[in-house]
Amino acid sequence: MRVIVAKDYEEMSRKAANLIAAQITLKPESVLGLATGSTPLGTYKELIARCAAGDISFAQVTSVNLDEYRGLPRDNDQSYYYFMHHNLFSKVDIDCARTHIPDGTEADSAEACRRYDEVVRSVGGVDLQLLGLGHNGHIGFNEPSDSFTKGTNCVNLTESTIQANARFFASEKDVPTQAYTMGIGTIMSARRVLLVANGEGKAEIVKKAFFGDITPRVPASILQLHPDFTLVIDRAAAALL
Ligand code: GLP
Repeated sequence: MRVIVAKDYEEMSRKAANLIAAQITLKPESVLGLATGSTPLGTYKELIARCAAGDISFAQVTSVNLDEYRGLPRDNDQSYYYFMHHNLFSKVDIDCARTHIPDGTEADSAEACRRYDEVVRSVGGVDLQLLGLGHNGHIGFNEPSDSFTKGTNCVNLTESTIQANARFFASEKDVPTQAYTMGIGTIMSARRVLLVANGEGKAEIVKKAFFGDITPRVPASILQLHPDFTLVIDRAAAALL
């Protein structure tokens, strides 16, 4: 595990963007695993600026997103489909036909999970997986549990995750209670993993996940075992280390 501590959110975002830019420069046809949430937004802004400046290109990149709310149509402005198109895909030269997100509108959850595992398999797995970190240690939407998940699964979101995500919805009752997420096994199969976290609100969980016991009760803790894992955090998130 490599730990990079940046002075603030902007520097964290630039450093994370450096690693993604290097990945797609060295391997233009990379498969990027992408994340939503507020933390990666600065990283995406950096990548958009570098693409506009002609320094990097997504033209040959394939992407697979981590997760999607179950039951939200793509055009709902809280769907992760909408998020990715709005915050990255429409602003870089990526071929949208090569971008993949679990289908939140598929009511048959077993079928949705099976199909998404097939997508990840068919693109040859993930070269670089970008992750954020939930306050309870979730990655993607893999919530604390008795065991680590393997492939794509349909999860019941915990009360704390619903509350944390309520800020994006009109009210807490509008937050979907379930989501489809790539499994921990798939995330661990990515050839490189990059996790971004910032702010004092993440300090406790950063310490627990990356310097504490490896346990499915803190799903991100398994990343300690990944052979090429880089943690990019700001000083506030590193405060308890
Ligand atoms: C959601 C997403 C996660 C994300 C987490 C943290 O639950 N499914 O992928 O990492 O939120 O979000 P934020 O970056 O806004 O703190």
